[in-house]
Amino acid sequence: MKFFILIVALGAARATLYDQKLDAASTYDCPYCQPEQVHIAFGEKSNDIVVTWSTFNDTEGSFVQYGVGVMSRQAAGSSSLFRDGGKARREQYIHRVTLPDLQYNTTYVYHAGSEYGWSELFSFHVPPQGTQWPVRAAIYGDMGNKNAHSLSYLQDEAERGHFDLILHVGDFAYDMHDDDGKRGDQFMRQIQPLAAMVPYMTCPGNHEATYNFSNYRARFSMPGGTESMFYSFDLGPLHIVSISTEYYYFLQFGARMLFTQYAWLQQDLAEANKEENRKVRPWIVLMGHRPMYCSNSDDIDCSFDAPVHVVTGSAGCQEEHSNFNVTRPAWSAFRTEAYGYTRLLAHNTTHLYIEQVDVEQQGKVVDSFWLIKDHHGEYHY
Ligand SMILES: *[C@@H]1O[C@H](CO)[C@@H](O)[C@H](O)[C@H]1NC(C)=O
Ligand SMILES: *[C@@H]1O[C@H](CO)[C@@H](O)[C@H](O)[C@H]1NC(C)=O
Ligand SMILES: *[C@@H]1O[C@H](CO)[C@@H](O)[C@H](O)[C@H]1NC(C)=O
Ligand SMILES: *[C@@H]1O[C@H](CO)[C@@H](O)[C@H](O)[C@H]1NC(C)=O
Ligand SMILES: *[C@@H]1O[C@H](CO)[C@@H](O)[C@H](O)[C@H]1NC(C)=O
Repeated sequence: MKFFILIVALGAARATLYDQKLDAASTYDCPYCQPEQVHIAFGEKSNDIVVTWSTFNDTEGSFVQYGVGVMSRQAAGSSSLFRDGGKARREQYIHRVTLPDLQYNTTYVYHAGSEYGWSELFSFHVPPQGTQWPVRAAIYGDMGNKNAHSLSYLQDEAERGHFDLILHVGDFAYDMHDDDGKRGDQFMRQIQPLAAMVPYMTCPGNHEATYNFSNYRARFSMPGGTESMFYSFDLGPLHIVSISTEYYYFLQFGARMLFTQYAWLQQDLAEANKEENRKVRPWIVLMGHRPMYCSNSDDIDCSFDAPVHVVTGSAGCQEEHSNFNVTRPAWSAFRTEAYGYTRLLAHNTTHLYIEQVDVEQQGKVVDSFWLIKDHHGEYHY
């Protein structure tokens, strides 16, 4: 009985607190303080989650309220003013809050904002600890907001808990800077149901280059302190590396970063390749926008045998289907022009599984393979 009374008392105290807060907020008229474009990413560790969102006015504070089952905790972050490079110099505040040291293998609920307005309620699942669990990823490049064929499938799967992370391998929105950045806003709203629930990990593509990749750098929050341009992180038996292939193509924005990235990559791979690391994370997955090998008719050189290489860029691009008029070379095991995306399952340290989802055939799996390495040779670097 006492316990019951205690709960009522606490409930009443809380209600008063929040009523006061709401009264305070309602004295301000701030129609542009509503959070939108909410998305999450892994921070420096797989149990740190970074929440990013936009508002069109300054909210004097950036908060995420979160917890297991109930939102019992609050974390504060900061916002920065982003000014698009277009004629209108359109502005928005981009907020970032890190939720550190979360419990592994646990589902959290959260909302983001400030006393001037909160987002709707979202949830995410923090991945399990350690390296001995099967990682499930959705992977795709090239998804715009007009021709996003795969989006409904991806959202459906994400909401069913099928993915531990998303890897979007460059080319967003077509293009985020268009229409003074409104295209980017529209795209980020569109992916919110997916990206607010599952860590949405990215790398830049050529369509992000305008104004020195500034829309890309401002809108995403990848780990590594390089404004999302290149970074790496560990997840289960995977070491995932994301690079900018675009440094090699847009030298007008400065070639220096190309060398910085190269030196970083050498060091990162050397570390990942250390015997003790390779033993527990034998899979090194590299993502970058430009394929090294491919078999379509684009003017990119695609003429050598390769380690197993998956080119996945058909989630739904405004340029529509690629063109396979070139005969499939012997080293290309399978290809499809259909819209879709790739599912990856890093089953354990020896077995990795890949399958291709065709959304033109209602999500049918049109190709799949297991990559099995049961006796690794020496690792060379
Ligand atoms: C609030 O946002 C509106 C619309 O973007 C803008 O016109 C106005 O200048 C902003 N006010 C402040 C104080 O940032
Ligand atoms: C994660 O939690 C679920 C449900 O409690 C449990 O079945 C599963 O074994 C856990 N996974 C790991 C890798 O600990
Ligand atoms: C482009 O942005 C990078 C930061 O990512 C900066 O170091 C570089 O100086 C910029 N280049 C130009 C030409 O503004
Ligand atoms: C393939 O199509 C492209 C563009 O339509 C064309 O330029 C190219 O010559 C074609 N290649 C072959 C081998 O037919
Ligand atoms: C990985 O999984 C496969 C298939 O279940 C199994 O045959 C293999 O022994 C596993 N490898 C390790 C190292 O557990």
